[in-house]
Amino acid sequence: MKKSLKDYDFKNKRVLVRVDFNVPLENGKVTDTNRIEAALPTIKYLVNEDAKVILMSHLGRPKGEFKEELKLDPVGKELANLLHRKVKKVDDCIGDEVKKAVDDMEKGDVLLLENTRFYKGEKKNDPDFARQLAENADIFVLDAFGAVHRAHASTVGVTEYLPSAAGFLLMRELNALGDVMENPESPFVAIMGGAKISGKIAVIENLIDKVDYILTGGGIANTFLKSQGYEVGKSLVEDDQLQIAQDLVKKAKNKGVILLLPHDVIIADEFDNDANYKEVPVSEVPVDWEILDSGGSNTIKEYTKIIKDAKTVIWNGPIGVFEFENFARGTNAIAKALAETDAKTIIGGGESAAAVKKAGFMDKMTHISTGGGASLRFFEGKSLPAVEAIDDL
Ligand code: 3PG
Repeated sequence: MKKSLKDYDFKNKRVLVRVDFNVPLENGKVTDTNRIEAALPTIKYLVNEDAKVILMSHLGRPKGEFKEELKLDPVGKELANLLHRKVKKVDDCIGDEVKKAVDDMEKGDVLLLENTRFYKGEKKNDPDFARQLAENADIFVLDAFGAVHRAHASTVGVTEYLPSAAGFLLMRELNALGDVMENPESPFVAIMGGAKISGKIAVIENLIDKVDYILTGGGIANTFLKSQGYEVGKSLVEDDQLQIAQDLVKKAKNKGVILLLPHDVIIADEFDNDANYKEVPVSEVPVDWEILDSGGSNTIKEYTKIIKDAKTVIWNGPIGVFEFENFARGTNAIAKALAETDAKTIIGGGESAAAVKKAGFMDKMTHISTGGGASLRFFEGKSLPAVEAIDDL
């Protein structure tokens, strides 16, 4: 058991909170505030406990260099709106400016530090950088579920210098994902989509031991289809993964898991929303066309029925190029089926969460994770270094 917020007295303490404010920005504005909203319970709790709340996060992948467009100022503005209180933002995450701002804090104040990834020491988990991050605080709280699979200075390194606790979002994520992996009610269905099978092999292998069905879609399904001898034309396929795909199909069969590939798909004559397109059985994909949506009518019918009869469903990855309206049908149908089933529905972060949001079904899901890579790592059954690093009770 890890220490949680209830295990500390925060009154007048300087509390360094690692959040995941890695949010999409467009023209200097946050376009999706979910991750900021998800961090509010911990921030509000600490404010109410009279702590001095110092927030830090990464944003994007600036590779250890300052990037004007990856400053956290727009996030600070959005956070202040959502919190209905002043949020002071500083232009660094270590050094004199931070020290001064922290020294000036009153209890209940909220301070946002600058993007930790502007320093090379962040990703390297450099002990000296971690010490500098920690030196203005008394307690460290980890609430960045989206970054728990990263062993960085702001997620792992700081725990060498400060007593630590898990925040509310982190606990909520670990409980929700842990619950389906440890006590899933059958039928347990995993929907595996997304572009590439290579990033999901470990997940599929781990899930084969737990689930009753694996429904495939997207680029993953194309690779499975090709591995079974289907012509997939110009579709996105990982040719170096065909043997692995074949092995996974065999492994599923041996374990009695029903691994389904699409029966019919939407194909296009080019990778464009305005391309010519049509629905065909998977056995009829011409060599010069490509599959852009696994959601043919029969596939949707079959997948929807399985989701309806399920008791537990996890979803990772869209089953088509859902950013293109003409090829979002399959992904939207999955989102709708999940919204309508009585099963427990757990949505991996990243693109699947975005697809649920776009389809307007966010409030219909049991849990939507805020972590893309982190939830994948969790479904792989692997350890999460930043969670490991938190103090034990
Ligand atoms: C995410 O968006 O999945 C997290 O914020 C982690 O970001 P990263 O993949 O750049 O480490």
